[in-house]
Amino acid sequence: SSQTITVIKGDGIGPSIVEAAIQVLDKVGCNFSYEYVDAGLTALEKTGELLPQATLDAIARNKITLKGPLTTPVGEGFTSINVTLRKKFNLYSNVRPVISFKGTKARYENIDIITIRENTEGMYSGAGQVVKEEGTVAEAMSIVTKKGSEQIVEFAFETARREKRKKVTAVHKANILKSTSGLFLKTAREVAARYPDIEFGEMIVDNACMQLVMNPQQFDVIVTTNLFGDILSDLCAGLVGGLGMAPGANIGKDCAVFEAVHGSAPDIAGKNLANPSSVILASIQMLEYLGMKDKAEKILAAVKDVIATGDRTTRDLGGTHGTTDFTAAVLERL
Ligand code: NAI
Ligand code: MG
Repeated sequence: SSQTITVIKGDGIGPSIVEAAIQVLDKVGCNFSYEYVDAGLTALEKTGELLPQATLDAIARNKITLKGPLTTPVGEGFTSINVTLRKKFNLYSNVRPVISFKGTKARYENIDIITIRENTEGMYSGAGQVVKEEGTVAEAMSIVTKKGSEQIVEFAFETARREKRKKVTAVHKANILKSTSGLFLKTAREVAARYPDIEFGEMIVDNACMQLVMNPQQFDVIVTTNLFGDILSDLCAGLVGGLGMAPGANIGKDCAVFEAVHGSAPDIAGKNLANPSSVILASIQMLEYLGMKDKAEKILAAVKDVIATGDRTTRDLGGTHGTTDFTAAVLERL
């Protein structure tokens, strides 16, 4: 194909796992061209900016981006690059699937949950973060709109329909956050009524956390607001073997960014310890988005076999190998 992919290798473990994913994509004959640009600490060091204009231009031009995790410096007046990207390109849906892989140290089998997270509004957007009185009082703003809620819930139901899933559960806190979460829930009910073929459920977020840990198989598609989705998707990753197994797609109307759910993992960076599955699975989401289902399935089968046979798996999966050995094992199967 003639598709050009914008690639941001990212910070910390980012470059090592993004390189692994690109080797895998090349191995199955995707024939993508890659345009490499920087963001995050890497960009700050090179250009003095966390998110250079050239990076924004490449994301807009190529429409498809594969991205490693970025470190946002804490408490230095920087806004999160991820939040900025999601808002700038109106990547309103964040699609975070988890499935059980045989051979991990996960507590459960047969888990297949997609968390669909509103990606631009709510508390997580960081709006109105102000210190009212230095060191004593702080304030933030959470804005939820009917339009934002409607498009994310529609996206969840459309995804459920396309993937022949049975149930969408809206997770909320409308009992307490009456205005914001209340609007989300009311809108979710209205949208659900237009999809009578798919079961609709509602669950308050704290109960949802408990239910996910006790009885995760009851969940199919979860749709929720930004901050709850951030937290629930890490919880879901924990159900299937950890953040190394969790990919995510940020999807807007004409632009998409594929990445891992996790961050730059400074505790293991530079040690060849990271599990590259997160970004490899994000590449699979990218192939599905591009309609390249055969190649996506091939890669998934290879990753499944490496993990099931314990052939050169990383430490988070119970193995003793590193990023490069794991990647080699996947490449051999392809
Ligand atoms: P983290 O997600 O980077 O790491 C949490 C834990 O999971 C660590 O113990 C780490 O070693 C482990 N882990 C993560 N990915 C792994 C992988 N592929 N294989 C094996 N183990 C893995 O979260 P943390 O430490 O809270 O954040 C570090 C930095 O990442 C922060 O600067 C944060 O802002 C940033 N971040 C960036 C994200 C993004 O770019 N999408 C998302 C989340 C955090
Ligand atoms: Mg997160």
